[in-house]
Amino acid sequence: MSDRKPLLRVTRRALLSSAAGAATLAMTPRLFSPAIAQAAPFKVGMMLPYTGTFAKLGQFIDDGFKLYVEQKGGKLGGREIVFTQVDDESKPEAATDNINRLIGREKVDLVVGTVHSGVAMAMVKVARDTNTLLIIPNAGANDATGPACAPNIFRSSFSNWQTTFPAGKTMIDAGHKNVATITWRYTAGAEMIGAFAENFTKNGGKIVEDLTLPFPEVEFQALITRIAALKPDAVFSFFAGGGAVKFVKDYAAAGLNKSIPLYGAGFLTDGTIEAQGEAANGIRTTLHYADNLDNPANVAFLKAFKTRNGKDGDIYAVQGFDAAAMLDIGLTAVKGDAGARDAMVKAIGAAKIDSPRGPLSFNKAHNPIQNIYLREVRNGRNELVSIAQAAVDDPARGCKL
Ligand code: BEZ
Repeated sequence: MSDRKPLLRVTRRALLSSAAGAATLAMTPRLFSPAIAQAAPFKVGMMLPYTGTFAKLGQFIDDGFKLYVEQKGGKLGGREIVFTQVDDESKPEAATDNINRLIGREKVDLVVGTVHSGVAMAMVKVARDTNTLLIIPNAGANDATGPACAPNIFRSSFSNWQTTFPAGKTMIDAGHKNVATITWRYTAGAEMIGAFAENFTKNGGKIVEDLTLPFPEVEFQALITRIAALKPDAVFSFFAGGGAVKFVKDYAAAGLNKSIPLYGAGFLTDGTIEAQGEAANGIRTTLHYADNLDNPANVAFLKAFKTRNGKDGDIYAVQGFDAAAMLDIGLTAVKGDAGARDAMVKAIGAAKIDSPRGPLSFNKAHNPIQNIYLREVRNGRNELVSIAQAAVDDPARGCKL
């Protein structure tokens, strides 16, 4: 375990405004009213990985969220938006302390986080216990919108089940009957491979072997050697971030990309494609986004993201952008009065968002209903092949909402 202190960065503006706010309250406690609360900045706590294998993913979520807020002139529902952030390092063991700091010390109005399923589930527990508004901008842990669902918890992303279930049928349709799977041994890996296998075996496929290694290890050689010996029709995988870059390069370096087609959850090649270079060519994945989705919202989003950040947007940036759109809808519905929580939650839950990913709405468990696309890497882009399954709705098993 690292003894590094998690990074907690408070913007100067946020610090000044909260200090000023605290001073005002100390002097005039009885004057505090909903009107003053609505005039005060709305504080968003970003709890994301800014270091480690998922660092780039966290940064893109952060950039996407801030792009949306900037496009609205820094205000949503009439409230100035200020930020504070904590680096969760994708470490579940530090997650409870990290979110408690945002809620207790930083007094945030909303927590946005995170990427890693294990970290997210610790956040969900605290958010439920403290009734803090939480928008999950990536982590797919099924339970967050399953047995642990709650009125104050939303996702702008996906459930792990949702992104890979359609791939089971896609691979059967492509003629692959005997498939090996490979992933990290943690919640997201198990759930994504599990959903793929559910649909794949239901349609007559056979899993020849499930290969795993601990998160976030990247020593793939022995497992790649095992795949070569098994000679499956194809491989289905889940990796993301830095680990995905290394896996795709190692797979190609072993020559397997020429003989055993590589498939995966779209995180394998989203946000990683540039670093993977030629090694990624031909990889097919399923995800709720493709680079060349030809809808006006995506075209505008990609242009604005590139102008702001000098980089191409990806699914993580889209999820951050849409998380801010959800907050906008909630705050606008209550004219900035975040104390009107029930009305805010109702408005977000009923939202129909024209997202860069295509139509986005929410089920009762507050998980997105969205298209899942089949994509193929061509010329350094995750290009749309077809809609693998339209308007996919997570079953929300165990959710009582
Ligand atoms: C997860 O842990 O839920 C996750 C991480 C990276 C990409 C997708 C899902």
